[in-house]
Formats: sequence, structure tokens, C-alpha cells
Amino acid sequence: MLEVENLWVRYGTVEAVKGVSFSVPAGSIVSLIGANGAGKTTSLRALTGLVKPGAGELRFGSTSLVGLAPHQVVGLGIAHVPEGRRLFPKMTVLENLTMGAYRRSRADVASTLIMVYEHFPILKERGRQLAGSLSGGEQQMLAIARALMSRPKLLLLDEPSMGLSPIMTAEVGKIIRQINALDVSIILVEQNAMLALTLAQYGYVLQTGQLVMQGKAQDLLRDEGVKKAYLGL
Ligand SMILES: Nc1ncnc2c1ncn2[C@@H]1O[C@H](COP(=O)(O)OP(=O)(O)OP(=O)(O)O)[C@@H](O)[C@H]1O
Ligand SMILES: [Mg+2]
Repeated sequence: MLEVENLWVRYGTVEAVKGVSFSVPAGSIVSLIGANGAGKTTSLRALTGLVKPGAGELRFGSTSLVGLAPHQVVGLGIAHVPEGRRLFPKMTVLENLTMGAYRRSRADVASTLIMVYEHFPILKERGRQLAGSLSGGEQQMLAIARALMSRPKLLLLDEPSMGLSPIMTAEVGKIIRQINALDVSIILVEQNAMLALTLAQYGYVLQTGQLVMQGKAQDLLRDEGVKKAYLGL
């Protein structure tokens, strides 16, 4: 579904991503793990047109994503849940959800809302509440739900467990599985390598902008180097 080949991104003099390649088979969950500053967020931002790659090929099916604006990428069926959630805190929950569907017809929005509320009943209850007044876990659910409002085929999740309690992290994990079961492919970026590799089928390890390891998630979970560096075992 997605092929990234030899991606390079720089910010001024900082080489943030240095020749990274990865792929996402249709229907799968693929995770990118790595420490602070490894280039995980930058890789996602390159996919959705938020930063311009210096070099590399990004293919979504047969379409190249290089040079597309973010709204065009959304139109192709890729939605991005950014690091730090980036909700509109002074807008209501329902308004935030509607923003996720700004490219779609009113009838589509109504039917998608029904689907989203099935998965996130709490957001229906809290529809008129300001997004900024939700708990951290609820805000993360809203950020994911807002992305689903565009009916993506591929969902990019940037550190969905950040700042959440273990119980909320488990909830987010459950939701990620449910979304994947709806035939939405997922790229899961996480510092929480345990969560990421438990959910994903395949994983890539990034270190200072470079790919240092890749493999089946179950193999990475058993790898001594990964255990020491990323799983705290
Ligand atoms: N807007 C920016 N301007 C300049 N440098 C940046 C910018 N954003 C990121 N960087 C640098 O690019 C590199 C990769 O950062 P990136 O945010 O992609 O890493 P990350 O893996 O997502 O890290 P984290 O786990 O902390 O979110 C780092 O050296 C970072 O300091
Ligand atoms: Mg990041």
C-alpha cells in the first residue's frame, strides 16, 4: 500500500532523516520505533506533505506523494494523528470531529459520525464539551476519531500513548486494533516500543535519522539489543 524509498529530510543544517526506506502492506500495522530525535515524526510529516523531502520516493499504491499538499494527501486516503494531538481546544468535541471531515459531503459526515461514535461512545456523550476540557486519554481518542472522519485507508499515528496512564494506553491499544480490523492500515510511531511491537506485525528501528534494524514485530520483541535499548528489559 505504501512504499518509502531512500527518504532524506533536513531542517536547515540538521539532517533529520537520512535515507530511510520502509513499506506498509495493505491491512497491516507497521511500527516505527526509536528514541528522541530519531526522525520518526519527520518521516510521517514527509508522507503527509508537511515537510518537503530532500530526496526519496514515497508511493501510495501507484501514486507518488512527493510534492503533494497535505489536503491532497488526505484526499487520497491518508490521515495523520499528529504528535501532541493538536486538537482545537476551544472548539467542541463535535466541531473537532467535523473539522476532520471538511472535504466530505454532509451526508458522508453524518454516516461517518455514527461509525465513529460506535467506537468512541464517550465522544458522543461529550459532544458539546470543549475539547480542551477532556482528559488526556479522551483527547487522544478525539484526535484519532477526528482523523477517522476523513475515512482514511492509511492512518498515521504519532505517539498515541504519550503522557497516558497504563490503563489509558491499553485502551488506545484496543482502539488501534479495532480500527485496523476495519481494514485501515496503520503506521504506528512510538517511543513505547512494547506497545508498538505488541500491536504491529512488522517494525523498523530508527536511530538518529537512520534505519538500524527491521523485522517481524515478534522477532524484534525477542531481540537482545532491542530489549536492552527500547524495552527496558
Ligand atoms: N522544526 C524543526 N527544525 C529543526 N530541527 C528539527 C525540527 N523538527 C525536528 N528537528 C530535528 O530533527 C531530528 C528528528 O526529529 P523528529 O521530531 O523527527 O524525531 P522523533 O523521532 O519524532 O523524536 P521524538 O521521539 O522526540 O518525537 C531531531 O534532531 C530534531 O531536533
Ligand atoms: Mg516525534
